[in-house]
Amino acid sequence: EITTTGKVIQSPCGPIIHGLEDVLVKTTAISDIDGRKGILWYRGYNINDLAKYSNFEETAYLIFNGRLPTRTELESFKSMLAKERDLPDEVVSTIRVLAPRAHPMHVLEAAVAGLAAFDPDINDNSPEANFRKAVRLTAKLPSIIAAHYRFSRKLDYIRPKESLAHSANFLYMMFGQEPDSTSAKAIDLYLVLHIDHEVPASTFATLVSISTWTDLYSAIVSGIATLKGPLHGGANEAAMKQYLEIGSPEKARPYVEKLLGEGKRLMGVGHRVYKAYDPRAKIYKELVRELSQSKGNMTYYNIASEVEAVVLEKLASKGLYPNIDFWSGIAMYLLGIPYEYYTPIFAMSRVVGWSAHAMEYLNQHRLFRPRACYVGPHDVPYVPIEKR
Ligand code: ACO
Repeated sequence: EITTTGKVIQSPCGPIIHGLEDVLVKTTAISDIDGRKGILWYRGYNINDLAKYSNFEETAYLIFNGRLPTRTELESFKSMLAKERDLPDEVVSTIRVLAPRAHPMHVLEAAVAGLAAFDPDINDNSPEANFRKAVRLTAKLPSIIAAHYRFSRKLDYIRPKESLAHSANFLYMMFGQEPDSTSAKAIDLYLVLHIDHEVPASTFATLVSISTWTDLYSAIVSGIATLKGPLHGGANEAAMKQYLEIGSPEKARPYVEKLLGEGKRLMGVGHRVYKAYDPRAKIYKELVRELSQSKGNMTYYNIASEVEAVVLEKLASKGLYPNIDFWSGIAMYLLGIPYEYYTPIFAMSRVVGWSAHAMEYLNQHRLFRPRACYVGPHDVPYVPIEKR
């Protein structure tokens, strides 16, 4: 008989930890979460400090190397990233063919797999070669996403500008104009806040792949494919649609009360690990306020603030608080980014964490090979097709 208590399923072969919840799969020195207090650290640095003082390139260096760079190291890392942004013509052509029909996450998977053919280090899993591959992937993901955006709108591919920072260059490749500093900061801070988060499903998928000694490109395709699911990436889109449905701040409270009264879930609220206010959400809320002011549109910030007040009043006692997705969809919306690019932009940041975890795991390597408890029959007689 099979019974479940949520976390554990009692099977004939023994207990199954449902969804591997709380199962430790590796040691890590990359990121750490205190879900009870709502604290996130990258390489020991509090996310609040990195959000305030750092930027995407410096934080990526920190994640990869375990320490902050000197000025010279940072300049050289930035220049490596900037030089690796452009895509081979063959990959640009692939994106051009697929973009009008395919979801950007599918195109991201296809383009990353295609890029493997052009990487001179592809069959070398040494730490040095994997670092070079990780830098190339980090540099090229924004170009793939921007190319998809352009081609699906019958626009031309815009080649990257080396003089621009990572985030500003992404917006430039999407929209063909160098962004204002607040817009570039909105993307940059989003990338800093999403760069790593211990071992969620997509990072675990990357680890399972790399544990077979496959190449980093294939492992990153696993990460992208797993992030695509609505239970992982995608809640910021749902939260934004919620605010659009609410329409104005005074309608927020009755909307939320009705929704909760019907036993439904508010999007952008709650987290498997955080049982306090998600520290990333606290930080990004301020950015959304700033961006809303600079765009002259406070409507969605005000609606979300009203929703937040009801959440804090009615749900906080159950450990349910706004998560990063509660606020980030508003920024994407105000930047004019269509919904289908929200999750690809998440991937654009998390590719750093996936790569760092893959490299870290190769140092403590063991092939992932769990077991399943077989509950079907054995020795079933084979019946020829004409007798079935
Ligand atoms: N709104 C209202 N109630 C909620 C919400 C919510 N968003 N989330 C959880 N609850 C309630 C549940 O109904 C349940 O109540 P009960 O005990 O009275 O039955 C209780 O909180 C526990 O819920 P679980 O589903 O067990 O909590 P879990 O840890 O599995 O859920 C999850 C985490 C999936 C994120 C959930 O909070 C949710 O669905 N949130 C909305 C989607 C969302 O915002 N996802 C983004 C996550 S952050 C990120 O990925 C970057």
